[in-house]
Amino acid sequence: MSEIRDLSLKESGLQKINWVKDNMPILAQLEQQFIKEQPFAGVKVSLSIHLEAKTAYLATVIKAGGANIRVTGSNPLSTQDDICAGLVASGIEVFAWYQSTKEEYENHLLHTLEFGPNVIVDDGGDLVNMLHNKLPHLLPNIYGGCEETTTGIVRLKAMDKANELTFPMMNVNDADCKHLFDNRYGTGQSVFDGIMRTTNLVIAGKTIVVAGYGWCGKGVAMRAKGLGAKVIVTEIDPIKAIEAVMDGFSIMTMDEACDDGEIFITVTGCKDVITSKHFLKMKQNAILCNAGHFNLEVSYEELEKIAIKKITRRKNIVGYTLENEKTVNLLGEGRLVNLTCADGHPAEIMDMSFAIQALCAKYIVENKDTLENHLYSVPKEIDDYVARKKLQAMNIKLEQLTDDQKKYLSSWE
Ligand SMILES: NC(=O)c1ccc[n+]([C@@H]2O[C@H](COP(=O)([O-])OP(=O)(O)OC[C@H]3O[C@@H](n4cnc5c(N)ncnc54)[C@H](O)[C@@H]3O)[C@@H](O)[C@H]2O)c1
Repeated sequence: MSEIRDLSLKESGLQKINWVKDNMPILAQLEQQFIKEQPFAGVKVSLSIHLEAKTAYLATVIKAGGANIRVTGSNPLSTQDDICAGLVASGIEVFAWYQSTKEEYENHLLHTLEFGPNVIVDDGGDLVNMLHNKLPHLLPNIYGGCEETTTGIVRLKAMDKANELTFPMMNVNDADCKHLFDNRYGTGQSVFDGIMRTTNLVIAGKTIVVAGYGWCGKGVAMRAKGLGAKVIVTEIDPIKAIEAVMDGFSIMTMDEACDDGEIFITVTGCKDVITSKHFLKMKQNAILCNAGHFNLEVSYEELEKIAIKKITRRKNIVGYTLENEKTVNLLGEGRLVNLTCADGHPAEIMDMSFAIQALCAKYIVENKDTLENHLYSVPKEIDDYVARKKLQAMNIKLEQLTDDQKKYLSSWE
């Protein structure tokens, strides 16, 4: 029943999945545990994820726990057709292909849901959205779900506040073992992987503008500095701005930053961060990209509107010539540059994020009778378990408190 581009690509997909498996030790352990315990026996699970090797392995682990699963991509440009083929060859139903149109993308989401899932694993909120708005008859089947990213959590918080959530959701993004490492170190590294392999240009000595100094922005700015760039940060939050200054970065408005910037990276989760007035101020050949969840941060629509010429310059780079005769270059259509122009975060980082996803999915099944229709924080035990497993995998030992130390730390005298 799957809908994928080309099953003959399965060998390449399976190779990539096996490679990450060797570098995701926590998930590999969970796979063995799930094979024995079958926590998802008789449970239907729908996943909407960036369809690349690490997420494919997460799907495999959930299936190994006995689930009947369907998978779709959470972004048309991050879906890798060979990974889809590899998953189908492993007996998983997949509905996705690279560069799906808006209509195809929606149909894939629909087909992933229409078998009536009990648990959903979402990235950016598309499954939650479709279930509530287009498939309300499926809502009674749902025990709950997990959300991977900041942007999805913003939507869920709004739904929870308005009492619109009709099943419990786990806030995976805000678990320490997720955002502290995935958003910061993962985005930091993979954004430059995407920019460097797509442009093949030097970073050292360039002026890089990072919009947003949240978890992702901190990682991006840190890696830019490490690669030898001069870094300018733009922010709206006064505290984050001071943090950026104390970390050694210049803070400016986007308007000011346009005078010097050579590469612009947005990671705000907001919209219209870079618009026409900025494009027209930029230097010849400026490079623009986005690492926030939606392609609204660099205003793609405005760029399309004001350009007098548009040409493909390399794979994933479109040059827009403006009325001032300068050209600005947009990477990956302004969609997540680390996933559209590279393979996403490193496997060792996603090992932690996806161990949390898998354990939260299990938690939902185990607690389906008591959880209410709200957004829940990930239990501290799950966060700690994943951190300890990660340290174990890295062969790092912790100090242990003595009884005397415990007593000292809990006394008030
Ligand atoms: N590329 C990836 O792989 C990846 C990974 C994780 C998260 N994300 C996405 O990246 C985005 C940011 O995530 P985060 O965890 O860093 O969020 P965050 O909330 O920690 O940080 C966002 C920052 O942007 C600032 N901001 C908001 N609007 C702004 C504007 N107009 N101009 C300048 N700064 C502005 C906020 O004040 C905040 O400090 C979200 O959309 C999230 O879903 C992407």
